[in-house]
Amino acid sequence: MRNFVGLAGFALLLAGCDSPTDSQIGPPHQPWTPRVCARNTASFSADTLDLCPIDPASLSANGDVNGVHESEARAKTLIAGWTESDELAFVQGSAGQYVGNVAPVEGLPALSLQDGPAGVARFSGVTAFPAPIALAATWDLDLVERWGSAMAAEERGKGAMIQLGPMMNLARTPAGGRIFEGFGEDPYLSAALAARDVIGIQSQKVVATAKHFVGNEQETNRVGGDSRIDERTLHEIYEAPFAASVAAGAASVMCSYNRVNGVYACENPETLRDLKTGLAFSGFVVSDWGATQSLEASANAGLDLEMPLGHWFGQLGAAVDSGAVAKTRLDDMVTRIVASLARVGVLDDPPTGTPSSIVTSSEHATLARDAASESITLLKNDAQILPLDPARSVLVVGEAGNTVPSAVGGGSAFVNAPYIISPLSAINDRIGAAATYDDGTTDSVSRAAAAADVAIVFVTVPSSEGVDRPSLATGLDDVIAKVAAANPNTIVVLNTPGAVLMPWLDQVRAVLVDWYPGQENGNALASVLYGEQNPSGKLPLTFPKSESDLPRPETSITVNYDEALEIGYRALDAAGREPLFAFGFGLSYTTFAYSNLTFAAGSAPGNLIARFELANTGLRSGTEIAELYLSFPPDAGEPPRVLRGFARATLDAGQTQTLSIELTARDFAIYDSSTHAWRVPSGHFQIAIGGSSRSQPLSAELDVMGTGFAP
Ligand code: BGC
Repeated sequence: MRNFVGLAGFALLLAGCDSPTDSQIGPPHQPWTPRVCARNTASFSADTLDLCPIDPASLSANGDVNGVHESEARAKTLIAGWTESDELAFVQGSAGQYVGNVAPVEGLPALSLQDGPAGVARFSGVTAFPAPIALAATWDLDLVERWGSAMAAEERGKGAMIQLGPMMNLARTPAGGRIFEGFGEDPYLSAALAARDVIGIQSQKVVATAKHFVGNEQETNRVGGDSRIDERTLHEIYEAPFAASVAAGAASVMCSYNRVNGVYACENPETLRDLKTGLAFSGFVVSDWGATQSLEASANAGLDLEMPLGHWFGQLGAAVDSGAVAKTRLDDMVTRIVASLARVGVLDDPPTGTPSSIVTSSEHATLARDAASESITLLKNDAQILPLDPARSVLVVGEAGNTVPSAVGGGSAFVNAPYIISPLSAINDRIGAAATYDDGTTDSVSRAAAAADVAIVFVTVPSSEGVDRPSLATGLDDVIAKVAAANPNTIVVLNTPGAVLMPWLDQVRAVLVDWYPGQENGNALASVLYGEQNPSGKLPLTFPKSESDLPRPETSITVNYDEALEIGYRALDAAGREPLFAFGFGLSYTTFAYSNLTFAAGSAPGNLIARFELANTGLRSGTEIAELYLSFPPDAGEPPRVLRGFARATLDAGQTQTLSIELTARDFAIYDSSTHAWRVPSGHFQIAIGGSSRSQPLSAELDVMGTGFAP
């Protein structure tokens, strides 16, 4: 199918929207608030799509997020009576019972900051939800918002006002130690999920902190490592989730330990200007713990709050007195913090809980369980061995299946699980004869495997802040090979933060990724193994065939992001290399067919809706995530295809449903480093829709007349 949008539309285009003027060209890059106009929405059809220039004055930004102006005015009135020493005390951490604390000032309570992206860290009496990477595998925006809101309710219940999450650095290197804390390798998916997490968190009157800004994709040399990222890549890839979070109202952003293009992130005038001017971020910038490296440079570049103590900002008073830092900058720091607390609701309704409050609940345990089941990603299911027949005898192999079940990742995001349901116990709840168990450390495992109908091998790969994984090996390859040699019905369950290599893949019948599933581990897994839940997870990151297919953590101080826009699947697509399992891939116990792609006018003038039919062609009800990829004209310099939308649908066996994915001008835009602005390139685009980054049964071609800039 080919839709033509050409110069013929230009006259009409001018009739439908304002024509561009010089003053409209080249506004600062804007947040993710796309709007386009069509030439004639009443009779809009696929062959009359036009993307019109936008009036920059109409763009919204964090500055226009509900309540920003009112809360700023309120903050100014509040701090009018403060002395300079009150202000100085308010922009630096102090000792206290949370991971971050600010001493009380003039009628304001002490501030409390607590990790983190995976739920309330370190304290007990909390819920261990699945890790963010597991939520990313659900591609379920509503679920992510509910999860964000539940985590924040627990933070608030513990007395925390500011949650140190979500974490939105990208899985650039599959071995990155913190990828379990984030939403995978794709900027569009991460942006969409991070934004909903922010909305969920702040719905509970808890400030969300988008972290770590920016270019913090590895733990090797994590302090001082210099991420060298070109301007276009920075905007299109690494700043994208932050832009979405700011547009969603995030009231705080944490600057990272690393340098960006030679300058430490917490004193980097360029990236902090991108944030505060380009994205119109009205909240406050908090340093990562110990990430501040200077006094004047940090204060002047835009750091607003030093954590965990005032190592540098302790001397801020002298810098203000000498004029090295303007008094207005100090006022601005304080205004931003107070206004953020006011806007999110902390000032009017401060939390009353304490670190010892019990904040977990049966509702949150149910949510943890539902999220874990929904995140399970089925990668292989030969001979339809799954779902399992409860009459079959089962051998469970590996400590992670029994005595040491996996739940969460390590570091500042570590959550203290009140309990962890072991897979063995949950399997036993569902089958007649109790499953047998072997820890896999001796040769007895071969005999045990031969004696069972089915062998399930559990692989845990730990991961933590502070250290990258030394390799993508599971460490259990020999055990899996041994079990598979003794039993053709071998199933592998991966409790991993991301990709692992699978030299044994051809020898096993089935592979599932269970990520870090939280406290409900066994219950979630068994519900999928026995078919109570049809798996619907899709990979938020690529599983490569070899270690060298994607970047390894860089060991020298300079970390060149040479692959530029080609992060994750984009690199393999560009090189024409096969992944082991592609970004966006995941099987179901049923099958889906895609048909009948058409286009229609969107909800806002000029938006384009791709509409198609999805049919459940199998025998049981199931959920599919349909993914939309865009290919740009060759001279736009984009990777072969990039994710630009997705839709989830749950269908009964035999049911067909029409699904829609809406695209905006911003979806067609690239960042132009020569004008420092977004623009839609002219030319031939392709829109492709399907079940993974490597399978798109539907496609259409579209000639687009570009715009000088886009929001
Ligand atoms: C981490 C942050 C965390 C902070 C406070 C740092 O080491 O990088 O993500 O929020 O500690 O625990």
